[in-house]
Amino acid sequence: MAAFNTEQVLSVHHWNDTLFSFTTTRDAALRFHNGHFVMIGLEVDGKPLMRAYSIASANYEENLEFLSIKVPDGPLTSRLQHLKEGDTILVSRKPVGTLVIDDLRAGRNLFLFGTGTGLAPFMSIIKDPDTYERFEKVILVHGVRYVSELAYSDFIQHELPQNEYFGEMVREKLLYYPTVTREAFRNTGRITELIETGKLCQDLGIAPLDPAQDRAMLCGSPAMLADISAMLDERGFEVSPGVGQPGDYVIERAFVEK
Ligand code: A2P
Repeated sequence: MAAFNTEQVLSVHHWNDTLFSFTTTRDAALRFHNGHFVMIGLEVDGKPLMRAYSIASANYEENLEFLSIKVPDGPLTSRLQHLKEGDTILVSRKPVGTLVIDDLRAGRNLFLFGTGTGLAPFMSIIKDPDTYERFEKVILVHGVRYVSELAYSDFIQHELPQNEYFGEMVREKLLYYPTVTREAFRNTGRITELIETGKLCQDLGIAPLDPAQDRAMLCGSPAMLADISAMLDERGFEVSPGVGQPGDYVIERAFVEK
């Protein structure tokens, strides 16, 4: 299994019965950009069973962190959800991906649009001081079906702003907008509706989306990506054509078929 490192599970957190996250050791040679993903998995019947997972920890952190759904009959997650501290998992050695701030043109506000586990790469990005150096405001919009799926909301609202190195920038620049579609909450509705009606920017007290000044990163289901991309394209935003080629926005699928 030369393509993979074997890492040890250090902690597991179950957010609800469909969503969990876990941390692992990190090989000293593993380098990545915030927003990247790796293949992770288990050896099943003597063969590696691997799926793509965005790294939720930042590239300066000692450990790796991942956010996963639990699919009862999913080939990997049906097993992965039973992970316990001390178990081992396989992690690919070459992190990759398109959700990197280096592929965005300079701009004013950065919008991070994530649904479901599409939040994971943005956890890495909001823990990156460079993100705050490059933009005036960083707007994290997390869309989920149920309140219990708002993973990390406590961390985002209460811990990150107290970070001893860059908490001040977080307090000044990070705007967190969780929104729920299938039960009551302070913000409701799909991200697409919130953009279309202008409610998102109104609620946050920021200027409407402007392709000349604003940038975006998208991570969610194929349907979510298609719909939000179409809305951004319509407004004159240009998608980054590929890694190393800057655009007004970048996209990545949240890898849900596990
Ligand atoms: P909804 O409850 O109306 O389907 P999922 O778990 O299916 O990926 O959904 C996560 C969140 O993304 C849900 O709030 C869901 O809303 C929303 N969603 C699903 N499809 C889209 C889409 N095409 N555009 C925007 N949001 C979407």
